[in-house]
Amino acid sequence: MSATPVTAPAAAAVDRLQFPPGFLWGAATAAYQIEGAVAEDGRTPSIWDTFSHTPGKVADGDTGDIACDHYHRYRTDVTLMSHLGLQAYRFSLAWPRIQPGGRGPANAAGLDFYSRLVDELLDAGVQPVATLYHWDLPQELEDEGGWTARETAERFGEYAALAADVLGDRVALWTTLNEPWCSAFLGYGSGVHAPGRTDPALALRAAHHLNLGHGRATAALRAALPGHARVAVSLNLHQVRPLTTDPADLDAARRIDAVANRVFTGPMLSGGYPDDLLADTAHVVDWDALVRPGDEAAVGAPIDLLGINYYTPAVVSAPGSGPVAADHAHGESDHAPWPGSEHVRFHRPPGETTDMGWAIDPTGLYDLLTAVSRAHPGLPLAVTENGAAFPDVPAADGRIHDHDRIDYLHQHLAAVHRAIADGADVRGYFLWSLLDNFEWAYGYAKRFGAVHVDYATQLRTPKRSARWYARAIAANAIPA
Ligand code: NOJ
Repeated sequence: MSATPVTAPAAAAVDRLQFPPGFLWGAATAAYQIEGAVAEDGRTPSIWDTFSHTPGKVADGDTGDIACDHYHRYRTDVTLMSHLGLQAYRFSLAWPRIQPGGRGPANAAGLDFYSRLVDELLDAGVQPVATLYHWDLPQELEDEGGWTARETAERFGEYAALAADVLGDRVALWTTLNEPWCSAFLGYGSGVHAPGRTDPALALRAAHHLNLGHGRATAALRAALPGHARVAVSLNLHQVRPLTTDPADLDAARRIDAVANRVFTGPMLSGGYPDDLLADTAHVVDWDALVRPGDEAAVGAPIDLLGINYYTPAVVSAPGSGPVAADHAHGESDHAPWPGSEHVRFHRPPGETTDMGWAIDPTGLYDLLTAVSRAHPGLPLAVTENGAAFPDVPAADGRIHDHDRIDYLHQHLAAVHRAIADGADVRGYFLWSLLDNFEWAYGYAKRFGAVHVDYATQLRTPKRSARWYARAIAANAIPA
């Protein structure tokens, strides 16, 4: 038997990046992407059912009808989580399960599914983190204007109260909205997401009503759970980089920062909509008519934590600089999601990309976390999504040796670690995603999971990255 050199463990300990005690390690999913069972227990259609069943909207005609069949297999999936050692699981509640049609009383059968899921998680020692809205608006509400109608924000507050009443005693943290930028600008601007509408004015109206919905839901959670609601929102803040320091490029970056980031963080965290956004978009929407007295105060109700979803940075310039590039992070469309996007051109950053065509750039995550923490001191942050799609072809032995995903996770966790070392108050990290799932307009072709799903058999196979992540969790450190 050979002796182990006594210096080895000490050297490894120095090399590996240790996270602060209590750092929360999780994984995330969303209802429409994994649940299936779209017509069970009283669930009514959402805008994603309608959209995915509309020919030409989703690659290969894929729908969420069955997805990962998580609705029936949630116990197996919680067992998987406990094998990974997950400390928290971020999932979303399907509004049309809990409140079919988006109004009226709660549907006990729909709520009961989440109640059973939450109990199963707690039994497994996994903290439930519930997102109220991950894009599956009840179709009936869309038929009355969807997020372009102010009424939808009011309905959302009522739905939040129904969910809080039943689940609030056991859910550790609530996030109101997931990536409202996508709901507003991809749903109503470029039309690559449900409901597929293409009007910049509607996109801005939707943005305001999503903000208001966040405010109403925050108030509902605080009222239902006095003193113990922990409320967050998950934003896909864009790490916007100007192509050059030319003033025209800097102005393009400012415009995108306004319409992609500050349109949400302004009213949620900084007291109101920023003046430059209002000026840039004054020709598109009548803000004075849209934003009523009291709205900004409602949207700005204090939150306990800001969730940041990060995948890739956005490089922009004025229209004249360089070749045209689609906004690869957000799907391609003939319609610009951005009001004022005629003033901006997107560029594909150099270097390697994931299967989505998104540049791999962990410095973007570091820059984002440190910038947000400087801008909003005292506000705890968490990375509520980060991860990568890769082709993931199973080897002859059926295993998936996804070294590319491990590299991606390693680099991005190192960026989080560095941001914490430099003062950012980042409390946790949620890998996107626990399972391969329905990647919206890309259907099942893009695989983000740490666990592979064979959609024909519903067999779950943890990828090599899942084992790597389990080691990270166990060590509270990035494995060397
Ligand atoms: C953000 C969304 O929240 C999630 O639903 C999506 O699957 C991932 N990004 C990857 O695109």
